[in-house]
Amino acid sequence: MKKDTGIVLSQTRLADGIYSMWIDTEIASEARPGQFAAIFPSAGNTLLQRPISICEVSGDKSAIRIVYRVVGKGTNEFSSYTEGTKVELLGPCGNGFDTEALAEGKSALLIGGGIGVPPMLELGKTLKKQGKNFKFVLGYRNSELFLYDDFVRCAGKENVIIATDDGSVGTHGTVVSAINEQNVAGDIIFSCGPMPMLRALKVFSEEKNMTAYISLEERMACGVGACLGCVCKTVNKDHHSHVNNARVCVEGPVFDAKEVEI
Ligand SMILES: Cc1cc2nc3c(=O)[nH]c(=O)nc-3n(C[C@H](O)[C@H](O)[C@H](O)COP(=O)(O)OP(=O)(O)OC[C@H]3O[C@@H](n4cnc5c(N)ncnc54)[C@H](O)[C@@H]3O)c2cc1C
Ligand code: FES
Repeated sequence: MKKDTGIVLSQTRLADGIYSMWIDTEIASEARPGQFAAIFPSAGNTLLQRPISICEVSGDKSAIRIVYRVVGKGTNEFSSYTEGTKVELLGPCGNGFDTEALAEGKSALLIGGGIGVPPMLELGKTLKKQGKNFKFVLGYRNSELFLYDDFVRCAGKENVIIATDDGSVGTHGTVVSAINEQNVAGDIIFSCGPMPMLRALKVFSEEKNMTAYISLEERMACGVGACLGCVCKTVNKDHHSHVNNARVCVEGPVFDAKEVEI
């Protein structure tokens, strides 16, 4: 993990309140799917870094793409950046998805919901390079299917299954409704999204006896394991503190769903 001053290469608006930004940064060379960058807003009243997942890494590993929703001061500041803006960031942070967990000949469901959709793209690109089988199952609020064309380019239209809250595209309902309604099969789950979706996937994977890796989102302060501001409850005890906690920023954000209480 390193601290770097990145330079914005481009910024585009993908949907209402959703932006995509490419940043030239050294952290790209080491980034794995499911890891995140901790980005420091420059405004004095927003001291803490904002964790944002790595959505894509450029082919030459010199830049990362982040896709984010504007929800407050930090992300609002990020949306004002233009080509050439300098960005202080730390990364790549966290453990990321272990693509080796998908055995040869098996198939993965890459499930993203809302602003948890972006990290599924780099995961899909990595599995594709490894020659592995996968399908995307993506949940959106409405017909603003941000990144849809990128997912189709990665996996083909037949391997991009959509659910929308308002029923305007794909299955009306959740990603689990889409899996059931469209008979989507897979051996293992990798997912990122809102907590209700992750809880539903934990139950679903237990019922189907599937392994599910879920990426958790917690408010973060230090981002490097020092403040314990981001702990989640685990089934097993931590070796050092002997409590049932894990730090999402270091031991996570990706956990085996069986190992966390959510
Ligand atoms: C590992 C990780 C990866 C993430 N990846 C992405 C991503 O790829 N794209 C993206 O848009 N967002 C992502 N987030 C969420 C993102 O970090 C927050 O939206 C951001 O920090 C908000 O900063 P802000 O200054 O704009 O909002 P603030 O002014 O700090 O807060 C505004 C509102 O957003 C809520 N909020 C702030 N942080 C979070 C959070 N972590 N989880 C839930 N609600 C929050 C606050 O409660 C408040 O209601 C990720 C978070 C984590 C922990
Ligand atoms: S944010 Fe400080 S320990 Fe995770």
